[in-house]
Amino acid sequence: MARIDEIAPDLYRVSIHLPQFDLQFNHFLIKDDEPLLFHTGMRRMFPEVRDAVAQLVDPAALRWISWSHFEVDECGALNEWLAVAPRAQAICSQVGAAVNIEDFADRPPRGLAKDDVIETGLHRYRFVPTPHLPHGWDAGVLFEETSGVLLCSDLFHQLGDVEPVTSADVLGRWDAAIAAYQAHPVLMDYVPLTPATRRRLFELADLQPRVLAAMHGSTFVGDGGAALRSAADMLERRLGAVPVDAHQVA
Ligand SMILES: [Fe+2]
Ligand SMILES: [Fe+2]
Repeated sequence: MARIDEIAPDLYRVSIHLPQFDLQFNHFLIKDDEPLLFHTGMRRMFPEVRDAVAQLVDPAALRWISWSHFEVDECGALNEWLAVAPRAQAICSQVGAAVNIEDFADRPPRGLAKDDVIETGLHRYRFVPTPHLPHGWDAGVLFEETSGVLLCSDLFHQLGDVEPVTSADVLGRWDAAIAAYQAHPVLMDYVPLTPATRRRLFELADLQPRVLAAMHGSTFVGDGGAALRSAADMLERRLGAVPVDAHQVA
């Protein structure tokens, strides 16, 4: 059963924990004049997510459906949502629209360029492309400018059935998740480290987010910029860009 929490003004986290992965899947609903859903969830999760969203807004009233990158937990149920929400339009990166969604979706998407803004009413969501961060050529994130919320997808991925909101060390939890996946024969190499990884994380840090709405795990409330900058060190240490000792804290 989905758990619903308001994690920032008008922003609701609809969370389903899947025991087989020991992982939460979080879908974010912005309740505003033009409601926006970030993460459709998987097709098989659709009835549960739809029923949870229906406690917040009429699903038929959805105006925007967005996500970070093409993957079933991000946008697998897109067509199910488009069917119940006749005014809804899919919005994603321009490359995502061109290479996946114009074919995959039952209605044409809108591709967002860097710094395009979606105004939902009281809230403004700025699109930031982040190719290959956390993964996927088409990856991007949305930043809400009035309350400092970063809808950050798989960044700060945490394992377990954790609390909805925390100010605890989410970077440590993400580090533990990366370590667990790196040790897994199937799930390894989940996040690529590229020459642009650090720069992209620092660009997100410069937005000075105060809320990091993670797809898997708790939403972090605190100094999001510091967490994002430290994440560059963590990924380089964990994924081997520099010798392990070079970044070890005394
Ligand atoms: Fe992903
Ligand atoms: Fe994910």
